[in-house]
Amino acid sequence: MSDLPIVNIGICGLGTVGQGVWKHITRSKPKLESRLGARLVLKRASVRNLAKKRGVRVGPSRLTTDPMAVATDPGIQIVCELIGGTTLAKEITLAALRLGKTVVSANKALVCDHGPEIFAAAREHGGHYFFEASVAGGIPIIKALREGLVANRFGRIYGILNGTCNYILTRMERESLSYPVILKEAKALGYAEADEALDVEGWDTAHKASIITYLAHGTWVPTKAMGVAGITQIAQADIQFAREHNLAIKLLAVIERDLKTDELAVSVAPTLLSRETALANVNDVYNGVSVSGDVVGETVYIGRGAGQDATASAVISDIVDAIALLLRGNAALPEPVDHDCPRRLPERSVSRYYLRLDVKDEPGVLSKISAATARFKVSIASVQQTASSRKGTATLMLTTHLTNEKAILSAVTQLRRLAGVLGAPLLMRIAAFEDA
Ligand code: HSE
Repeated sequence: MSDLPIVNIGICGLGTVGQGVWKHITRSKPKLESRLGARLVLKRASVRNLAKKRGVRVGPSRLTTDPMAVATDPGIQIVCELIGGTTLAKEITLAALRLGKTVVSANKALVCDHGPEIFAAAREHGGHYFFEASVAGGIPIIKALREGLVANRFGRIYGILNGTCNYILTRMERESLSYPVILKEAKALGYAEADEALDVEGWDTAHKASIITYLAHGTWVPTKAMGVAGITQIAQADIQFAREHNLAIKLLAVIERDLKTDELAVSVAPTLLSRETALANVNDVYNGVSVSGDVVGETVYIGRGAGQDATASAVISDIVDAIALLLRGNAALPEPVDHDCPRRLPERSVSRYYLRLDVKDEPGVLSKISAATARFKVSIASVQQTASSRKGTATLMLTTHLTNEKAILSAVTQLRRLAGVLGAPLLMRIAAFEDA
Protein backbone atom coordinates (compact mmCIF):
# COMPACT_ATOMS: atom_id res chain seq x y z
CA MET A 1 0.00 0.00 0.00
CA SER A 2 2.81 2.40 0.85
CA ASP A 3 4.11 2.31 -2.75
CA LEU A 4 0.85 3.58 -4.09
CA PRO A 5 0.75 7.10 -5.46
CA ILE A 6 -0.83 9.62 -3.11
CA VAL A 7 -3.61 11.90 -4.24
CA ASN A 8 -4.31 14.87 -1.96
CA ILE A 9 -7.80 16.28 -1.88
CA GLY A 10 -8.80 19.68 -0.54
CA ILE A 11 -12.34 20.66 0.34
CA CYS A 12 -13.42 24.28 0.17
CA GLY A 13 -16.55 24.47 2.28
CA LEU A 14 -17.26 21.91 4.99
CA GLY A 15 -21.01 22.51 5.13
CA THR A 16 -23.72 19.90 4.62
CA VAL A 17 -22.27 18.51 1.38
CA GLY A 18 -18.61 18.94 2.36
CA GLN A 19 -19.14 16.96 5.54
CA GLY A 20 -20.92 14.26 3.53
CA VAL A 21 -17.95 14.00 1.18
CA TRP A 22 -15.52 13.84 4.10
CA LYS A 23 -17.63 11.20 5.88
CA HIS A 24 -18.11 8.92 2.88
CA ILE A 25 -14.55 9.15 1.56
CA THR A 26 -13.32 8.26 5.04
CA ARG A 27 -15.74 5.31 5.21
CA SER A 28 -15.11 3.99 1.70
CA LYS A 29 -11.37 4.60 1.61
CA PRO A 30 -10.20 0.96 1.44
CA LYS A 31 -12.60 0.19 -1.41
CA LEU A 32 -11.83 3.35 -3.35
CA GLU A 33 -8.08 3.01 -2.84
CA SER A 34 -8.01 -0.58 -4.04
CA ARG A 35 -10.11 0.29 -7.11
CA LEU A 36 -7.94 3.28 -7.95
CA GLY A 37 -4.54 1.92 -6.98
CA ALA A 38 -3.84 5.15 -5.10
CA ARG A 39 -3.91 6.48 -1.57
CA LEU A 40 -6.50 9.15 -0.96
CA VAL A 41 -5.65 11.85 1.55
CA LEU A 42 -8.20 14.41 2.69
CA LYS A 43 -5.51 16.98 3.23
CA ARG A 44 -7.27 20.19 4.13
CA ALA A 45 -10.69 21.77 4.37
CA SER A 46 -11.82 25.35 4.68
CA VAL A 47 -14.60 26.41 7.02
CA ARG A 48 -16.17 29.71 7.94
CA ASN A 49 -16.05 29.10 11.68
CA LEU A 50 -13.27 26.98 13.20
CA ALA A 51 -15.12 26.62 16.50
CA LYS A 52 -18.36 25.23 15.03
CA LYS A 53 -19.30 21.66 15.97
CA ARG A 54 -19.47 19.35 12.96
CA GLY A 55 -20.81 15.91 12.21
CA VAL A 56 -17.37 14.69 11.08
CA ARG A 57 -14.07 14.62 12.97
CA VAL A 58 -11.42 16.71 11.24
CA GLY A 59 -8.13 17.41 13.02
CA PRO A 60 -7.65 21.14 13.71
CA SER A 61 -4.38 21.17 11.74
CA ARG A 62 -6.37 20.34 8.58
CA LEU A 63 -8.81 23.20 8.97
CA THR A 64 -8.41 26.74 7.73
CA THR A 65 -10.76 29.67 7.27
CA ASP A 66 -9.10 30.51 3.94
CA PRO A 67 -10.57 28.57 0.96
CA MET A 68 -8.00 30.15 -1.35
CA ALA A 69 -5.21 28.56 0.72
CA VAL A 70 -6.81 25.15 0.04
CA ALA A 71 -7.38 25.89 -3.67
CA THR A 72 -3.77 26.98 -4.24
CA ASP A 73 -2.02 24.54 -1.88
CA PRO A 74 0.79 23.09 -4.04
CA GLY A 75 0.33 19.65 -2.46
CA ILE A 76 -3.35 19.38 -3.37
CA GLN A 77 -4.24 17.96 -6.77
CA ILE A 78 -8.01 17.86 -6.47
CA VAL A 79 -9.98 20.80 -5.11
CA CYS A 80 -13.66 20.36 -4.22
CA GLU A 81 -15.50 23.66 -4.40
CA LEU A 82 -18.48 23.24 -2.10
CA ILE A 83 -18.96 26.75 -0.82
CA GLY A 84 -21.64 27.76 -3.33
CA GLY A 85 -22.39 31.22 -4.72
CA THR A 86 -20.71 32.72 -7.74
CA THR A 87 -18.20 35.22 -6.34
CA LEU A 88 -15.65 33.60 -4.03
CA ALA A 89 -16.46 30.21 -5.53
CA LYS A 90 -15.51 31.52 -8.97
CA GLU A 91 -12.26 33.03 -7.68
CA ILE A 92 -11.11 29.86 -6.00
CA THR A 93 -12.18 27.70 -8.94
CA LEU A 94 -10.25 29.80 -11.45
CA ALA A 95 -7.22 30.03 -9.11
CA ALA A 96 -7.06 26.25 -8.81
CA LEU A 97 -7.61 25.67 -12.53
CA ARG A 98 -4.92 28.19 -13.45
CA LEU A 99 -2.51 26.09 -11.39
CA GLY A 100 -3.44 23.09 -13.52
CA LYS A 101 -5.45 21.42 -10.75
CA THR A 102 -8.68 19.54 -11.14
CA VAL A 103 -11.78 21.07 -9.57
CA VAL A 104 -14.87 19.14 -8.54
CA SER A 105 -17.98 21.20 -7.91
CA ALA A 106 -21.62 20.96 -6.86
CA ASN A 107 -22.24 24.58 -7.81
CA LYS A 108 -24.96 24.79 -10.45
CA ALA A 109 -25.18 28.58 -10.40
CA LEU A 110 -21.46 28.87 -11.09
CA VAL A 111 -21.51 26.36 -13.95
CA CYS A 112 -24.60 28.00 -15.41
CA ASP A 113 -23.37 31.59 -15.15
CA HIS A 114 -19.66 31.09 -15.88
CA GLY A 115 -19.34 27.66 -17.50
CA PRO A 116 -17.56 28.78 -20.70
CA GLU A 117 -14.92 30.77 -18.78
CA ILE A 118 -14.32 27.93 -16.33
CA PHE A 119 -14.06 25.24 -19.03
CA ALA A 120 -11.67 27.46 -20.99
CA ALA A 121 -9.44 27.92 -17.90
CA ALA A 122 -9.37 24.16 -17.36
CA ARG A 123 -8.47 23.51 -21.01
CA GLU A 124 -5.82 26.21 -21.15
CA HIS A 125 -3.95 25.07 -18.04
CA GLY A 126 -4.28 21.31 -18.48
CA GLY A 127 -6.66 20.84 -15.56
CA HIS A 128 -10.23 19.54 -15.48
CA TYR A 129 -13.58 20.64 -14.11
CA PHE A 130 -16.17 18.09 -12.94
CA PHE A 131 -19.70 19.03 -11.89
CA GLU A 132 -21.87 15.90 -11.68
CA ALA A 133 -23.27 17.00 -8.29
CA SER A 134 -24.58 20.27 -9.73
CA VAL A 135 -27.62 18.62 -11.33
CA ALA A 136 -30.12 16.18 -9.83
CA GLY A 137 -28.16 15.29 -6.69
CA GLY A 138 -27.27 11.62 -6.66
CA ILE A 139 -28.53 10.83 -10.19
CA PRO A 140 -25.56 10.51 -12.58
CA ILE A 141 -27.41 12.48 -15.26
CA ILE A 142 -24.36 14.37 -16.48
CA LYS A 143 -22.51 11.13 -17.06
CA ALA A 144 -25.57 9.70 -18.78
CA LEU A 145 -25.84 12.65 -21.18
CA ARG A 146 -22.10 12.99 -21.85
CA GLU A 147 -21.21 9.34 -22.11
CA GLY A 148 -24.02 6.81 -22.01
CA LEU A 149 -26.29 8.64 -24.45
CA VAL A 150 -23.62 10.15 -26.68
CA ALA A 151 -25.11 8.45 -29.76
CA ASN A 152 -28.34 10.44 -29.44
CA ARG A 153 -29.95 13.70 -30.37
CA PHE A 154 -32.48 14.74 -27.77
CA GLY A 155 -35.96 15.75 -28.86
CA ARG A 156 -37.28 16.16 -25.34
CA ILE A 157 -35.90 16.21 -21.83
CA TYR A 158 -38.26 16.62 -18.88
CA GLY A 159 -36.70 17.07 -15.46
CA ILE A 160 -37.90 17.28 -11.89
CA LEU A 161 -34.69 18.89 -10.71
CA ASN A 162 -35.43 20.49 -7.37
CA GLY A 163 -35.78 18.22 -4.37
CA THR A 164 -37.19 20.94 -2.13
CA CYS A 165 -40.05 21.80 -4.49
CA ASN A 166 -40.84 18.16 -5.11
CA TYR A 167 -40.88 17.53 -1.36
CA ILE A 168 -43.24 20.48 -0.82
CA LEU A 169 -45.59 19.51 -3.68
CA THR A 170 -45.67 15.89 -2.54
CA ARG A 171 -46.58 16.82 1.01
CA MET A 172 -49.17 19.36 -0.17
CA GLU A 173 -50.71 16.51 -2.09
CA ARG A 174 -50.63 13.99 0.74
CA GLU A 175 -51.41 16.19 3.72
CA SER A 176 -53.16 19.47 4.28
CA LEU A 177 -50.12 21.11 5.85
CA SER A 178 -49.46 24.71 4.99
CA TYR A 179 -46.67 25.69 2.65
CA PRO A 180 -44.51 27.51 5.33
CA VAL A 181 -44.61 24.48 7.66
CA ILE A 182 -43.43 22.13 4.90
CA LEU A 183 -40.73 24.56 3.75
CA LYS A 184 -39.38 24.75 7.31
CA GLU A 185 -39.11 20.97 7.42
CA ALA A 186 -37.37 20.87 4.04
CA LYS A 187 -34.81 23.33 5.38
CA ALA A 188 -34.26 21.30 8.55
CA LEU A 189 -33.59 18.25 6.36
CA GLY A 190 -30.84 20.14 4.49
CA TYR A 191 -32.68 20.14 1.14
CA ALA A 192 -33.35 23.84 0.60
CA GLU A 193 -30.84 26.47 -0.48
CA ALA A 194 -29.83 29.13 2.07
CA ASP A 195 -31.94 31.48 -0.04
CA GLU A 196 -35.07 29.38 -0.43
CA ALA A 197 -36.39 31.64 -3.20
CA LEU A 198 -33.84 29.93 -5.46
CA ASP A 199 -35.77 26.70 -4.91
CA VAL A 200 -39.40 27.76 -4.74
CA GLU A 201 -39.24 30.46 -7.44
CA GLY A 202 -37.73 27.99 -9.92
CA TRP A 203 -34.22 29.47 -10.32
CA ASP A 204 -32.38 26.43 -8.98
CA THR A 205 -34.24 24.29 -11.53
CA ALA A 206 -33.44 26.84 -14.23
CA HIS A 207 -29.70 26.67 -13.44
CA LYS A 208 -29.84 22.89 -13.74
CA ALA A 209 -31.91 23.10 -16.95
CA SER A 210 -29.28 25.37 -18.44
CA ILE A 211 -26.52 22.86 -17.66
CA ILE A 212 -28.53 19.94 -19.06
CA THR A 213 -29.29 21.97 -22.19
CA TYR A 214 -25.60 22.63 -22.70
CA LEU A 215 -24.68 18.98 -22.27
CA ALA A 216 -27.49 17.76 -24.51
CA HIS A 217 -27.36 20.43 -27.21
CA GLY A 218 -23.99 22.18 -26.87
CA THR A 219 -25.63 25.56 -26.44
CA TRP A 220 -25.88 27.81 -23.38
CA VAL A 221 -29.35 29.14 -22.63
CA PRO A 222 -29.02 31.58 -19.73
CA THR A 223 -31.76 31.48 -17.12
CA LYS A 224 -32.87 34.99 -18.05
CA ALA A 225 -33.66 33.74 -21.55
CA MET A 226 -36.05 31.07 -20.20
CA GLY A 227 -39.60 31.37 -18.96
CA VAL A 228 -39.20 30.52 -15.26
CA ALA A 229 -42.02 30.05 -12.76
CA GLY A 230 -41.92 28.43 -9.33
CA ILE A 231 -44.42 26.71 -7.08
CA THR A 232 -45.48 29.55 -4.78
CA GLN A 233 -48.82 30.07 -6.57
CA ILE A 234 -49.88 26.43 -6.37
CA ALA A 235 -52.95 26.09 -4.15
CA GLN A 236 -54.90 23.17 -2.74
CA ALA A 237 -57.52 23.79 -5.48
CA ASP A 238 -54.92 22.86 -8.12
CA ILE A 239 -53.73 19.82 -6.17
CA GLN A 240 -57.33 18.69 -5.79
CA PHE A 241 -58.04 19.19 -9.51
CA ALA A 242 -54.94 17.18 -10.41
CA ARG A 243 -55.92 14.34 -8.10
CA GLU A 244 -59.46 14.18 -9.53
CA HIS A 245 -58.12 14.02 -13.09
CA ASN A 246 -55.41 11.41 -12.51
CA LEU A 247 -52.70 14.05 -12.85
CA ALA A 248 -49.81 15.21 -10.67
CA ILE A 249 -48.25 18.67 -10.40
CA LYS A 250 -44.47 18.78 -10.72
CA LEU A 251 -42.07 21.67 -11.12
CA LEU A 252 -40.71 20.66 -14.51
CA ALA A 253 -37.76 21.76 -16.58
CA VAL A 254 -38.77 21.27 -20.21
CA ILE A 255 -36.02 21.17 -22.82
CA GLU A 256 -37.43 20.54 -26.28
CA ARG A 257 -35.62 20.46 -29.58
CA ASP A 258 -37.30 20.08 -32.94
CA LEU A 259 -34.94 17.61 -34.58
CA LYS A 260 -36.05 18.71 -38.06
CA THR A 261 -35.78 22.49 -37.71
CA ASP A 262 -33.26 22.50 -34.84
CA GLU A 263 -35.42 24.93 -32.84
CA LEU A 264 -34.83 24.77 -29.11
CA ALA A 265 -37.10 25.77 -26.22
CA VAL A 266 -36.20 25.70 -22.52
CA SER A 267 -38.55 26.58 -19.68
CA VAL A 268 -39.27 25.87 -16.02
CA ALA A 269 -42.81 25.83 -14.68
CA PRO A 270 -45.21 23.81 -12.57
CA THR A 271 -46.72 21.31 -14.99
CA LEU A 272 -49.48 18.73 -14.92
CA LEU A 273 -48.39 15.19 -15.73
CA SER A 274 -50.47 12.09 -16.26
CA ARG A 275 -50.23 9.78 -13.24
CA GLU A 276 -49.41 7.00 -15.70
CA THR A 277 -45.97 8.51 -16.37
CA ALA A 278 -42.86 7.65 -14.40
CA LEU A 279 -42.14 11.27 -13.54
CA ALA A 280 -45.58 11.81 -11.98
CA ASN A 281 -44.63 9.15 -9.46
CA VAL A 282 -41.33 10.73 -8.49
CA ASN A 283 -42.10 12.02 -5.02
CA ASP A 284 -40.59 13.61 -1.91
CA VAL A 285 -37.02 14.84 -2.31
CA TYR A 286 -36.47 12.62 -5.32
CA ASN A 287 -35.57 14.06 -8.71
CA GLY A 288 -36.48 12.46 -12.01
CA VAL A 289 -35.30 13.05 -15.53
CA SER A 290 -36.92 11.65 -18.66
CA VAL A 291 -34.60 11.84 -21.65
CA SER A 292 -35.88 11.02 -25.14
CA GLY A 293 -33.08 10.26 -27.55
CA ASP A 294 -33.53 9.58 -31.25
CA VAL A 295 -31.53 6.37 -31.03
CA VAL A 296 -32.38 4.97 -27.62
CA GLY A 297 -35.97 6.19 -27.11
CA GLU A 298 -37.01 7.28 -23.62
CA THR A 299 -34.77 6.63 -20.63
CA VAL A 300 -35.78 7.70 -17.12
CA TYR A 301 -33.53 8.42 -14.15
CA ILE A 302 -34.82 8.69 -10.60
CA GLY A 303 -32.96 9.33 -7.37
CA ARG A 304 -32.51 11.64 -4.42
CA GLY A 305 -32.03 15.13 -5.74
CA ALA A 306 -30.87 16.90 -2.62
CA GLY A 307 -29.41 16.23 0.79
CA GLN A 308 -26.00 15.42 2.18
CA ASP A 309 -25.50 11.81 1.15
CA ALA A 310 -26.97 11.94 -2.37
CA THR A 311 -24.90 14.98 -3.27
CA ALA A 312 -21.78 13.50 -1.66
CA SER A 313 -22.27 10.38 -3.78
CA ALA A 314 -22.07 12.49 -6.96
CA VAL A 315 -19.08 14.53 -5.72
CA ILE A 316 -17.17 11.37 -4.84
CA SER A 317 -17.91 9.89 -8.25
CA ASP A 318 -16.29 12.98 -9.79
CA ILE A 319 -13.32 12.74 -7.42
CA VAL A 320 -12.79 9.14 -8.49
CA ASP A 321 -13.04 10.07 -12.19
CA ALA A 322 -10.60 12.90 -11.58
CA ILE A 323 -8.11 10.57 -9.91
CA ALA A 324 -8.39 8.00 -12.71
CA LEU A 325 -7.73 10.79 -15.16
CA LEU A 326 -4.73 12.04 -13.18
CA LEU A 327 -3.20 8.62 -12.80
CA ARG A 328 -4.02 6.96 -16.06
CA GLY A 329 -4.86 9.84 -18.34
CA ASN A 330 -8.19 8.24 -19.26
CA ALA A 331 -9.52 10.81 -21.64
CA ALA A 332 -12.76 12.32 -20.40
CA LEU A 333 -14.93 13.31 -23.35
CA PRO A 334 -14.38 16.96 -24.18
CA GLU A 335 -17.19 19.44 -23.49
CA PRO A 336 -19.75 19.68 -26.30
CA VAL A 337 -18.90 22.14 -29.02
CA ASP A 338 -20.72 25.46 -28.60
CA HIS A 339 -23.50 25.30 -31.10
CA ASP A 340 -26.00 28.05 -31.59
CA CYS A 341 -29.49 26.77 -32.33
CA PRO A 342 -32.48 28.94 -33.06
CA ARG A 343 -34.97 29.45 -30.23
CA ARG A 344 -38.48 28.16 -30.84
CA LEU A 345 -41.00 30.97 -31.07
CA PRO A 346 -43.98 30.86 -28.66
CA GLU A 347 -46.40 30.53 -31.60
CA ARG A 348 -44.66 27.26 -32.56
CA SER A 349 -44.93 25.83 -29.05
CA VAL A 350 -48.11 23.79 -28.74
CA SER A 351 -49.60 22.21 -25.63
CA ARG A 352 -52.76 21.65 -23.68
CA TYR A 353 -53.14 23.98 -20.70
CA TYR A 354 -54.82 24.22 -17.31
CA LEU A 355 -55.99 27.62 -16.12
CA ARG A 356 -57.27 28.51 -12.64
CA LEU A 357 -59.14 31.75 -12.15
CA ASP A 358 -60.62 33.28 -9.05
CA VAL A 359 -63.78 35.03 -10.22
CA LYS A 360 -66.83 36.92 -9.06
CA ASP A 361 -69.67 34.42 -8.90
CA GLU A 362 -72.21 36.41 -10.90
CA PRO A 363 -74.04 36.22 -14.24
CA GLY A 364 -72.03 36.79 -17.40
CA VAL A 365 -68.55 36.18 -16.00
CA LEU A 366 -68.15 32.79 -17.67
CA SER A 367 -69.28 34.13 -21.04
CA LYS A 368 -66.74 36.98 -20.84
CA ILE A 369 -64.02 34.47 -20.06
CA SER A 370 -64.95 32.25 -23.00
CA ALA A 371 -65.15 35.32 -25.28
CA ALA A 372 -61.61 36.29 -24.21
CA THR A 373 -60.21 32.84 -24.93
CA ALA A 374 -62.15 32.60 -28.22
CA ARG A 375 -60.64 35.90 -29.34
CA PHE A 376 -57.22 34.22 -29.39
CA LYS A 377 -58.59 30.95 -30.82
CA VAL A 378 -57.97 29.11 -27.57
CA SER A 379 -60.48 26.28 -27.45
CA ILE A 380 -61.73 25.25 -24.00
CA ALA A 381 -61.87 21.50 -23.34
CA SER A 382 -63.40 21.50 -19.85
CA VAL A 383 -64.70 23.88 -17.19
CA GLN A 384 -65.09 23.15 -13.51
CA GLN A 385 -66.26 25.52 -10.81
CA THR A 386 -65.91 25.22 -7.05
CA ALA A 387 -67.11 27.52 -4.32
CA SER A 388 -64.35 29.60 -2.85
CA SER A 389 -63.91 30.55 0.79
CA ARG A 390 -64.63 34.22 -0.02
CA LYS A 391 -68.34 35.08 -0.20
CA GLY A 392 -69.59 35.89 -3.72
CA THR A 393 -66.53 34.41 -5.41
CA ALA A 394 -65.75 31.10 -7.07
CA THR A 395 -62.76 29.24 -8.42
CA LEU A 396 -62.87 28.26 -12.08
CA MET A 397 -60.62 25.58 -13.47
CA LEU A 398 -60.40 25.31 -17.25
CA THR A 399 -58.46 23.04 -19.52
CA THR A 400 -57.79 23.81 -23.15
CA HIS A 401 -57.38 21.76 -26.27
CA LEU A 402 -54.00 22.02 -27.98
CA THR A 403 -53.09 25.67 -28.31
CA ASN A 404 -49.96 27.63 -28.97
CA GLU A 405 -48.12 29.46 -26.20
CA LYS A 406 -48.50 32.89 -27.77
CA ALA A 407 -52.28 32.49 -27.96
CA ILE A 408 -52.72 31.25 -24.40
CA LEU A 409 -50.45 33.97 -22.97
CA SER A 410 -52.38 36.63 -24.88
CA ALA A 411 -55.65 35.17 -23.60
CA VAL A 412 -54.35 35.21 -20.01
CA THR A 413 -53.34 38.87 -20.36
CA GLN A 414 -56.85 39.62 -21.56
CA LEU A 415 -58.42 37.60 -18.74
CA ARG A 416 -56.47 39.51 -16.11
CA ARG A 417 -58.11 42.70 -17.32
CA LEU A 418 -61.68 41.41 -16.98
CA ALA A 419 -63.61 42.99 -14.11
CA GLY A 420 -64.99 39.60 -13.03
CA VAL A 421 -61.56 38.00 -12.70
CA LEU A 422 -59.90 38.49 -9.31
CA GLY A 423 -56.10 38.41 -9.16
CA ALA A 424 -53.67 36.74 -11.55
CA PRO A 425 -54.80 33.49 -13.21
CA LEU A 426 -52.60 30.43 -12.72
CA LEU A 427 -51.52 28.75 -15.96
CA MET A 428 -49.93 25.31 -16.19
CA ARG A 429 -48.99 23.20 -19.15
CA ILE A 430 -50.37 19.67 -19.35
CA ALA A 431 -47.31 17.73 -20.43
CA ALA A 432 -47.36 15.45 -23.45
CA PHE A 433 -45.22 12.36 -23.60
CA GLU A 434 -45.94 11.37 -27.20
CA ASP A 435 -44.00 12.38 -30.31
CA ALA A 436 -40.59 13.18 -28.83
N1 HSE B 1 -31.89 23.01 -3.08
C1 HSE B 1 -31.59 22.01 -4.03
C2 HSE B 1 -32.80 21.11 -4.18
C3 HSE B 1 -30.39 21.21 -3.59
O1 HSE B 1 -33.72 21.21 -3.36
O2 HSE B 1 -32.86 20.31 -5.09
C4 HSE B 1 -29.75 20.43 -4.68
O3 HSE B 1 -29.35 21.22 -5.74
